[in-house]
Amino acid sequence: MKKIAIIGGTGPEGRGLGLRFAIAGHNVIIGSRTQERAEQAALEISSITPDLNITGSNNEDAANSSDVVILSVPFEGLRPVAETIEPLTKGKLIVSIIAPLSFSEGQMKALNVPEGSAGELTSILFPQSLVASAFQNLSARDLLNPSLKLNGDVAICSNSDTGLNEVVGLVSDIPDLRPLNAGSLSNSRYVEELTALLINMNKIHKTHTTIQFLGI
Ligand SMILES: NC(=O)c1ccc[n+]([C@@H]2O[C@H](COP(=O)([O-])OP(=O)(O)OC[C@H]3O[C@@H](n4cnc5c(N)ncnc54)[C@H](OP(=O)(O)O)[C@@H]3O)[C@@H](O)[C@H]2O)c1
Repeated sequence: MKKIAIIGGTGPEGRGLGLRFAIAGHNVIIGSRTQERAEQAALEISSITPDLNITGSNNEDAANSSDVVILSVPFEGLRPVAETIEPLTKGKLIVSIIAPLSFSEGQMKALNVPEGSAGELTSILFPQSLVASAFQNLSARDLLNPSLKLNGDVAICSNSDTGLNEVVGLVSDIPDLRPLNAGSLSNSRYVEELTALLINMNKIHKTHTTIQFLGI
C-alpha cells in the first residue's frame, strides 16, 4: 500500500485515477489549490465506492505526506504547481499524466512544448525526484466507472529504472491494465500527442478509445 497524492485531483482524470488506486488498496490524497475543493472531491469519489482510503488536502500537504506524487493538472498548471511542491518531493516518484493539448477548429491538437514534452519539462522542474510519465491515454469517464473493466496498455516513459519499475507496480495494481516500458522521457511526447488522436476518434466513433500494442 502506498500513499499517493494526486495534484489537481479535483478534475475528472485525477478523480478517476484516484478512485482506481484507492480500489486497489492504496491510500489516496486528492490535492487542490484549495483545501475545501480537495475535501469535497474526496467525499464525492468516496460516494462512488464506499470504504475507500481517500482524503483531500491542499496540494502542498498532499505532496508532503505522500510517497508518490501524480501530476494531474492542465499543462499550463505544471510550472505553477511545481513551484509550490518541488521542495516537498525530494527523492519521491513524480508521475506526469499531462497531455498538453488545445482545442481549435473543432479538433483537439497537441501543443508544441519547447522542452519536448510535459514529461521532459517535469524532469527539469523536479530535478531531485524520480520522474516518469504515464496514464495519458486513459479516459477519465472510463476511470470513473468502477464497474467498467479497463482494457489496454499504459505506456510508461522514464529515465530511471527505479521510477519505471514503481509505475509498472502501480499500473499492475489496476486489474486488466498492462504496463509497458515505453523507453526514456524523450518518447513521452508521442504518448502525450496520441491523446489528441484518441479524443478526436472518440468524437468520430462516439466511444472512449484507448491504446493496445500488438507484437509485445
Ligand atoms: N480528462 C481526461 O479524460 C484526460 C485523459 C487523459 C489525460 N488527461 C490529462 O490529465 C490532466 C488532468 O485532466 P483533467 O481533465 O482532470 O484536468 P482539469 O479538470 O482541467 O484540471 C484538473 C485540476 O487542475 C487544477 N488546475 C487547473 N488549472 C490550474 C493551474 N493553472 N494551476 C494549477 N492547478 C490548476 C484544478 O484543481 P484545483 O482548482 O482544485 O486546484 C483542476 O480541477 C491533464 O493534464 C490532461 O491532459 C486527461
